[in-house]
Amino acid sequence: MKKFYYTALCAVAFIGVTTLISSCKSDSTTPTPQEFIADNTTFSSFAGWAVGGTFHGANPSLGGMAHGGNDTSVTRVVHFKDDQNRVNGKFPTGTLVVKQSTSPAGMNEITAMVKRGNNFNPNAGDWEFFMLTPTGTIATDANGGVMRGANLMDGMCAGCHKGASAKDYIFSK
Ligand code: HEC
Repeated sequence: MKKFYYTALCAVAFIGVTTLISSCKSDSTTPTPQEFIADNTTFSSFAGWAVGGTFHGANPSLGGMAHGGNDTSVTRVVHFKDDQNRVNGKFPTGTLVVKQSTSPAGMNEITAMVKRGNNFNPNAGDWEFFMLTPTGTIATDANGGVMRGANLMDGMCAGCHKGASAKDYIFSK
């Protein structure tokens, strides 16, 4: 009998705690992560993400070289995961943006920006820059170096994107 009471008490306590935990969960919205570190699976479905902008031909901001900017036949499509927008002027940590530049001559350049957060890149809005392969994995350079970072391409990506610092470093949205 004693054992029965003990078991029943445990069961009630268990149900009570479980209810408490789940009620806490349903009350709060999903918290924004402090830091988002992309890996080779992060961008795999980028082609299906919402399109935030499509650009054809030259853009003076491209300085004639980046993203095929000097090639009038290039089309540049910018995808935003979950159609993410700014919240109070800034993109939240975990925001994923991929830009694909293609041309009839066979160019297929894929770059990405990830709002990594956590003071990762205080000079450029805590964005991390990436070069991707056509399947969305993170590209490697001729020496096997992974093409990602705050200062990718000797800081060229960040340097030019500073031109959009008033828009949280994103030109196309
Ligand atoms: C000379 C200037 C310049 C450089 C260098 C540059 N970008 Fe951009 N980038 C732009 C402009 C302008 C856009 C807007 C879309 C367009 O016109 O193609 C853009 C768009 C993007 C986008 C879509 C988000 C947005 O801002 O609209 C990503 C992602 C991106 N660039 C990544 C990179 C990466 C990664 C590098 C370095 C490998 C890089 N960019 C280097 C000028 C530059």
